Amino acid sequence: MVKKIFIGALLLIAIAIAGCSDEASNGRVVAVSFPNTTSSWQRNGDSIKRFLEEDNFTVDIQFAGSASEQSSQIAELLEKKPKCIVIGAIDGEGLVDVLEKAKEYEIPVIAFDRIIKNTDAVTYYASYDNEAIGEAWGMYFEAALNLKGGGGPYNIEFFAGGPTDNNAHLFHKNMMAILDPYIKSGKLICRSGQTDFDSVAVADWNSSNARTRIKTLLDTYYKDGAPLQAVVSPNDDIAGVILEEIRARNMAAPLISGLDADPAALERIKAGQQTFTVGKDPDHLTAKCVRMIKAVVEGTQPDINDVKTYNNGVKIVPAYLCTPMIIDKTNVDQIKG
Ligand code: BGC
Repeated sequence: MVKKIFIGALLLIAIAIAGCSDEASNGRVVAVSFPNTTSSWQRNGDSIKRFLEEDNFTVDIQFAGSASEQSSQIAELLEKKPKCIVIGAIDGEGLVDVLEKAKEYEIPVIAFDRIIKNTDAVTYYASYDNEAIGEAWGMYFEAALNLKGGGGPYNIEFFAGGPTDNNAHLFHKNMMAILDPYIKSGKLICRSGQTDFDSVAVADWNSSNARTRIKTLLDTYYKDGAPLQAVVSPNDDIAGVILEEIRARNMAAPLISGLDADPAALERIKAGQQTFTVGKDPDHLTAKCVRMIKAVVEGTQPDINDVKTYNNGVKIVPAYLCTPMIIDKTNVDQIKG
């Protein structure tokens, strides 16, 4: 599942890029542009700032609440000519124009957690193995509901992340590759009939949008008292609101997934409310990202373990994909909150 390590000629590319960025020098400033849409991004921000400052970089970090705000912030950050810019994209396809300036100023761009599409301005991609996350969800439901052993039928509903985030598509596709055969065989029943990405996506990963959808599902398809035994939730924020609405109707808690190992989700797992989450330790990701930053700024060697998965439409972006970790009641006590 986790791709094999590949290093080779990338060192040379890294040195070449570092050479190009000399003109755009401004001390050791690294610009960072992240969303502020979920608490996990605040943790990513804290982590990258801490790691970079420990390495004597100065960090110019901005958080944005919308794709347009992020574009303007990136434009401003680039005008200050940092050594490198790290971006967690709100709209992975919406940065093509603003990143033309990064190319003009020869500022290397590192995509953090989410790939940036349709531009050759992106140098590296640091993320978790997003395909493995979708597979892990599917496999967890398959095992917990004993679907291979003939378990079911169980009622299930699906939620996915925001359409402008490539991760959300990968998570859903890889999860569905495992669960769809059980829908077809009648072992999983989706009463709403909403299973394709467009029907189940939550715009901007926004938990109020998710709340509106779960309310409609419960009040339309489960009004007759039918149990909802399983819910695929794309992250912990969304799992939290789904569980609140289910509890508000005195329905039993379903088997439910999550992502990010948010402190609130760890508490819910301990309390037996949320079944599991997938931990993406921000420090692991940051450590790999800092190696990439140093590669482009100092000409050192980045860690790269994937050179085939992330074709962004223009180039294959060399990536390091960290390994995610399933957290449920069996191991939650060993996880730091
Ligand atoms: C990340 C998730 C996060 C979500 C919402 C996704 O791109 O992979 O970890 O929960 O965005 O911010």
